[in-house]
Formats: sequence, C-alpha cells, structure tokens
Amino acid sequence: MRVVTSARAMQRRALEWRRLGLRVGLVPTMGYLHDGHLSLVRRARGWVGLEGKVVVSIYVNPTQFGPREDLSRYPRDLERDKKLCRVEGVDVVFAPRDWEMYAGEEAGKHSTFVVESVLSQGLEGKARPTHFQGVTTVVAKLFNLVLPAVAVFGAKDYQQAQVIGRMVRDLNFPVRLLVSPTRREEDGLAMSSRNAYLSPAEREQAVVLSQAIREARRVVRLKRGGVPAERLVRELTAWIERRPAARVDHIAFVDPETLAPVIRVQAGVRMVLAVVVGRTRLIDNGRL
Ligand code: PAJ
Repeated sequence: MRVVTSARAMQRRALEWRRLGLRVGLVPTMGYLHDGHLSLVRRARGWVGLEGKVVVSIYVNPTQFGPREDLSRYPRDLERDKKLCRVEGVDVVFAPRDWEMYAGEEAGKHSTFVVESVLSQGLEGKARPTHFQGVTTVVAKLFNLVLPAVAVFGAKDYQQAQVIGRMVRDLNFPVRLLVSPTRREEDGLAMSSRNAYLSPAEREQAVVLSQAIREARRVVRLKRGGVPAERLVRELTAWIERRPAARVDHIAFVDPETLAPVIRVQAGVRMVLAVVVGRTRLIDNGRL
C-alpha cells in the first residue's frame, strides 16, 4: 500500500493507471475510519476487482466546515487509518496536506468553487450554509486527481450523496456513483467519526436518532393514507427531547429524489434528522 501526500504525484499515478487500462475506485473520507468507511472500501474493491485499484482519500476538508464548527478538533489518527486500509487491501491512501489542495486559500490564490444550487439549499445546507459548496468542490478536485471510474459514498449522509449525484450528472464527470447502506452500532446508532465526542451518558442517548426513524416508520405503516408531516415532526421532536442531552436541530420528511418536503408522510418517504446530543451534532436518515 502506498501513501501519497502530493496532489501532483496522485494525479501522475492515476494517469499511469489509466494508460494501463486499470479500473480505479475512490472512497473519499475525512479519516478517523470506522466500519462504515470500511464497508465502502469493500464495495469499491468488489466493483474494480482484484486487478483494479482502490484509493481511499483521507482529508479533513477545511472548506466544508463553517467558522464556528469543529474543524480544529475533528478527530484524526492517520497512523491507525493507514493500518485499517492496509488490512482492507487498499492500494493507495491519498492524504494530501492543506496547501496541496488549496494553494493558499487565505491569500486568495484558490478562487474556484463548485456549487450545486438546488438540492444543497435545504436541510443540512440550511443549517450549514457553505457546507455543500465545500463538499462539491473537494470531491470534484478528488475526481480530477484520482480519475476514478467509480466512487463510493454512504447513505448515512443522504443529502450529500444526492448533491454529489447531481454534480456528477450536471458537470458530466465520467464517474459512476455507488451509495452504500448506513452501518450501525448494535443498538442502532449510525457509525460516525463524531461519535468519538460523546460522553458515556450522551452515547446512550444518541440512540434516539435511529429510534425516532424506527418510530416514524412504525406510525406510517400503521396509518394508510399517511400522516401529516407537521404533526409527526412535532411529536417526534417532543419524544426525542425527553432525553436531557438531546435537542432537535431539524426533522424533515422529503421526497427521496428531489429532497422537497412532503406534506403527508407515507411509506417510501425519506426521513432526515439532525440532533444535537450534548455539544455534538449527529445526523441520520432512513426510508420509511
Ligand atoms: P466522512 O464523514 O469521513 O465520510 C466519508 C464517507 O463515509 C461518506 O460517503 C459517508 O457517507 C460515509 N459514511 C460515514 N458513516 C457511515 C456509515 N455509518 N455507514 C456507511 N457509510 C458511512 O462525508 C465526508 O467524510 C466528507 O464530506 C467527504 C465526502 C469525504 C468530502 O470531504
């Protein structure tokens, strides 16, 4: 396994792979890898085959963090991540330094961004206004550096996967996107690097996100003709906030493709939610 830290070296290697006709699979991450990330790695390997190349990028992308967000305290452990990747048979870990990705952003040298202007506006985009612009920009850059035939994303970040899908379509990236199911802890909590922030008491209460999805699914399956979204949001918010550490940021019921809010919640609708547990903002989503 190679660890590449230079953007130019990564691109040179990718061009060489292309010349040799090798299929490349990319798994973009911000590191602090867990089993959710590794399930994407396995999916990428399954797609490119043993003769293909799997690249995992590990980069805590500053442009997707807001000014008051957790960029500096975002968990990092590159040594451990490298070991996990080696065990998974990853070919290249691409772990660029900030100045490799954004040539002196402060100095205004980096001035080109990719903006998806519809799907990125609501939900997470509303709570974190410049977040998706940072995501689409860094993913476009990674596509240009790694030249993957396939890129794997997790359903855990549902809106992110939809936004990137739209970018790929609109800008004609020759990349096939795969979206892999959310991996969960035994009690249902979606795996996330940010779970590391939770105290033991908060960790116990964090299960409320997946429970709320299960609860919504149960209610919706019970009532033919659906349930008014507004009422369900109100009831679930109160139910979640019975946990002392939990504050709902948003709960929404949306069309799975357009992410437009629905008025009546029926089976097939996507539920997305963000809940602050203690000081940690957690997200989850599921099909009802
Ligand atoms: P990060 O949060 O590290 O997630 C990397 C990828 O792993 C994303 O596609 C995410 O959806 C997926 N993932 C996270 N938790 C998962 C889980 N429990 N089950 C399945 N997949 C999971 O998302 C990002 O990084 C960044 O925004 C990135 C796309 C790398 C751009 O910087």
